[in-house]
Amino acid sequence: MSPSSSTTDLSAATGVDPAAVAAGRRIRSVYVYEAPVRVWHWINALAITVLAVTGYFIGRPLPTMPGEASSHFLMGYIRFAHFAAGYVLAIGLLGRIYWAIVGNHHARELFTLPLFSRAYWREVAKMLKWYAFLIPRPGQYVGHNPMARLAMFFGYFCLSIFMVFTGFALYGEGLQTGSWADRCFGWVIPLFGQSQDVHTFHRLGMWAMVSFVILHVYAAIREDIMGRQSIVSTMISGHRTFKD
Ligand code: HEM
Ligand code: HEM
Repeated sequence: MSPSSSTTDLSAATGVDPAAVAAGRRIRSVYVYEAPVRVWHWINALAITVLAVTGYFIGRPLPTMPGEASSHFLMGYIRFAHFAAGYVLAIGLLGRIYWAIVGNHHARELFTLPLFSRAYWREVAKMLKWYAFLIPRPGQYVGHNPMARLAMFFGYFCLSIFMVFTGFALYGEGLQTGSWADRCFGWVIPLFGQSQDVHTFHRLGMWAMVSFVILHVYAAIREDIMGRQSIVSTMISGHRTFKD
């Protein structure tokens, strides 16, 4: 099956030879994800893994350590790793937003959703049925498929913004009143009630993020095997290759 993106889209944004497109030649490989998107993806994945593991232990600390309290700094290291990874996540997100502005049109897919397009929702419904093993494989997509786009917009983009705002609000409490984090994000705490409420929602956000990652990795590997197109290696090389 041939990829279901218009030929003008392909040649304009992905570097495909327009002459080949005009001659109606089969396109087998398209450059989709530019290097900054790929580097960001894997650094971000690492940051979120560190955040989820350290965050889990911040909320549910390990049992008491033996010996003198002064000879351990375990929770200190865990919190340090959490905050460092939090900065990586937040600065990475800003960098990724910058790349959406200057990068190719696939770089913008993460941040936009054609909510009012009937055709888009029809494609989402088709992908859902395909994921549920109800219909044979629908068309292939050069960038994210419509279902992936929906999941990434809400499950990653909106959720990360939420985690950054609630995370830096809590961080501002540690840095104390008047600190930059308190001045920029302190207003988030009364919005939820009080500090413990922000902790609770920040923690709930972790489980939402963990759910997204599980579904995301499952879908990526499943599509790689069943979708007759490269998926995981596309996030490494940047190229999407279509098989017959
Ligand atoms: C995907 C991103 C993130 C995840 C999964 C995550 C997860 C968590 C979890 C589960 C907790 C424990 C909540 C509790 O039960 O009390 C926590 C606490 C916290 N997180 Fe995050 N977090 C993320 C992003 C951030 C960011 C961007 C920051 C900003 C620096 C941040 C700063 C904090 C702070 C300050 C605490 C409280 C630490 C304490 O009370 O000792 N988090 N995080
Ligand atoms: C914490 C872990 C992860 C997070 C938060 C995450 C998040 C994301 C996000 C936000 C995108 C959209 C990229 C963009 O448009 O800029 C994406 C794409 C992608 N991710 Fe991940 N990812 C994670 C782990 C993984 C892993 C482990 C794999 C490999 C098995 C993977 C494979 C992919 C692939 C193949 C794409 C492109 C999908 C497509 O072309 O439609 N991700 N990921």
